[in-house]
Amino acid sequence: MLTIAIAKGRMQQDTLALLARAGVRVSAEALASRRLAVEDESGGYRFVFVKPADVPVYVEHGIADCGVVGRDVLLEAEADLLQPLDLKINRCVIAVAARGDEDATTRAGVLHVATKYPRVAAAHFGAKGVPVEIIELSGSVELAPVLGLSDCIVDLVETGRTLAENGLAVVETITESTGRLVVNRASYQLKAEAVGKLIKDLGRVVAEGGAQS
Ligand code: PRP
Repeated sequence: MLTIAIAKGRMQQDTLALLARAGVRVSAEALASRRLAVEDESGGYRFVFVKPADVPVYVEHGIADCGVVGRDVLLEAEADLLQPLDLKINRCVIAVAARGDEDATTRAGVLHVATKYPRVAAAHFGAKGVPVEIIELSGSVELAPVLGLSDCIVDLVETGRTLAENGLAVVETITESTGRLVVNRASYQLKAEAVGKLIKDLGRVVAEGGAQS
């Protein structure tokens, strides 16, 4: 049996749709329940539903053989995992954003940056030689510049709605992010047949147009 860690939240629906098209289905009853570990209908897969940032942890430690999670999370986690497939779901960007009425990122002195992505943010401004103080938050990051906690944010932008509705605008795009299949290094060798089949089946679905087609 293969255990797959699924990121709860924004990616969960597209992940399950993609897996279903690849022939891996979770029953409606299991999905409607509050159980955090469920088997697929064939009994060949077990799914564990965890917070996005915990997917690389479960897979790196081999508790899950595979996982589905955004590239944004992987960049921040720096876990030692195989990334055999870009699933092309939940396309978004990691961007620097600031209040639309003044670009605070051009201000002299140390820039205060609020983010859930401290490593990505530090690397980005470090490469530009901009001195920053990183203020790490766990969510609702858009509030920080509005309330004066920071000059700008580094955050995920998908539709842009959260930024717009809080009076913020993108100053600079850092990188793109999509959902990725990740695989534990040992599982890739020891469960080669099952892992290989999953990669092949998901790869076919992605090539055919993904979860939406
Ligand atoms: C993410 C991200 C933004 C928002 C962007 O937050 O941090 O806040 O979604 O999406 P949009 O461009 O489509 O508006 P998430 O929903 O993961 O919740 P969080 O505030 O707890 O981080």
